[in-house]
Amino acid sequence: SIELRELLLSRIKDVADYPKAGVVFKDITPLLADAEAFGALTDALVDLCVRHRVTKVVGLEARGFILGAPVAVRANVGFVPVRKAGKLPGATLGQAYELEYGTAEIEIHADALTPGDRVLVIDDVLATGGTAEASLQLVRRAGGEVAGLAVLLELGFLNGRERLAAELKDAPLEAL
Ligand code: PRP
Ligand code: HPA
Repeated sequence: SIELRELLLSRIKDVADYPKAGVVFKDITPLLADAEAFGALTDALVDLCVRHRVTKVVGLEARGFILGAPVAVRANVGFVPVRKAGKLPGATLGQAYELEYGTAEIEIHADALTPGDRVLVIDDVLATGGTAEASLQLVRRAGGEVAGLAVLLELGFLNGRERLAAELKDAPLEAL
């Protein structure tokens, strides 16, 4: 709803020149600190889980953990972390992706998903879409079905939605 969007937007702070000159960083910590806003966001994400018959929530390090964990608990499904390479102790699947300069790699535990799991991937910000694209690839390689990708905030001018179109296939991208 428009009311939810206005509440959420009002709790996201613009920080100029972070992490470097010329970048306006979207800081979600005021939203996390506000019980009404964080609760309303969680409710909306739980609603997506119900509507799309989700069986696992995948959260992307680090802020996707904060947003995704309460959703998994409230939706009564398990939570699975996707982490920066080298952080998960078990056997992993890895996926490299392009950064502005160079590449990064993220991982999922190879046994984290059950075949047929319907996965909602959750993160805070969709920027270039590189992180989300690699995460969707990991979910599929781990045997999961992508039920959707949900982010709090989409930075539309970076065209992440276009980058993700092929990997999303028919799954929805919801920017709350
Ligand atoms: C940020 C953000 C997303 C990603 C979006 O995480 O939380 O995960 O970047 O960028 P992209 O769409 O261009 O891939 P960051 O890599 O800063 O990790 P952190 O939360 O662990 O600091
Ligand atoms: N805020 C939070 N995370 C981000 C941003 C931002 O502005 N840009 C890329 N990742």
